[in-house]
Amino acid sequence: MNFIITTERLSLCSFTKEDASLIYELNLDPEVIRYTQDPVTDLSHAQQILEQVILPQYDLYGYGRWAVYLKSSSEFVGWCGLKYIPQRDEIDLGYRFKKQYWGMGYATEAARACIRYGFDKRNIKKIVGRAAPENIASVQVLKKCGMNFLAEELVDGLIAMTYEIANPSFPAIHSL
Ligand SMILES: CC(C)(COP(=O)(O)OP(=O)(O)OC[C@H]1O[C@@H](n2cnc3c(N)ncnc32)[C@H](O)[C@@H]1OP(=O)(O)O)[C@@H](O)C(=O)NCCC(=O)NCCS
Repeated sequence: MNFIITTERLSLCSFTKEDASLIYELNLDPEVIRYTQDPVTDLSHAQQILEQVILPQYDLYGYGRWAVYLKSSSEFVGWCGLKYIPQRDEIDLGYRFKKQYWGMGYATEAARACIRYGFDKRNIKKIVGRAAPENIASVQVLKKCGMNFLAEELVDGLIAMTYEIANPSFPAIHSL
């Protein structure tokens, strides 16, 4: 596997065309999609998401949602990564992990590494993170990544807590 990012416990790499079953199985758990409400109906739907949403991001922008594996056992635990949202011209931090791996700090570890990668390797100026107000674990991850609360707002018809973090290499522009 061609790893893009490695952390203390995790390895992140690009999904491939052969990974539809990983996406499908992850989304089968109703608790995993509780706040996003985006079920994957079957394997061919997962293949479609993979080929039309996830894989094109890598070529277009040089980053995307990456598959996350445990270094110790090579098990697939979920995904984490950056996604360009053209409608809002912003780069979004996202993550989704299998339930048996929640509460171990993996999301925070992966998310921090993705932010660092975006800033250091891709020269991204700002990264945005959003979560439903009730999705306390996700909000907590955004906070622990050093993101700052921006607003509670309606995004794509859902209430979202919006957080952002700016690349410290780009000085803030102050109006005179
Ligand atoms: C959100 C998600 C990725 C978090 O994964 P995780 O690996 O458990 O995250 P971490 O262990 O790194 O951190 C979770 C933090 O939330 C806290 N937390 C979780 N549930 C909580 C609750 N109900 N109340 C208060 N804190 C809570 C944990 O204690 C931890 O904080 P701490 O390290 O300061 O104790 C995981 O729950 C998930 O995959 N959810 C489904 C997909 C999803 O909703 N993605 C986000 C969409 S915006």
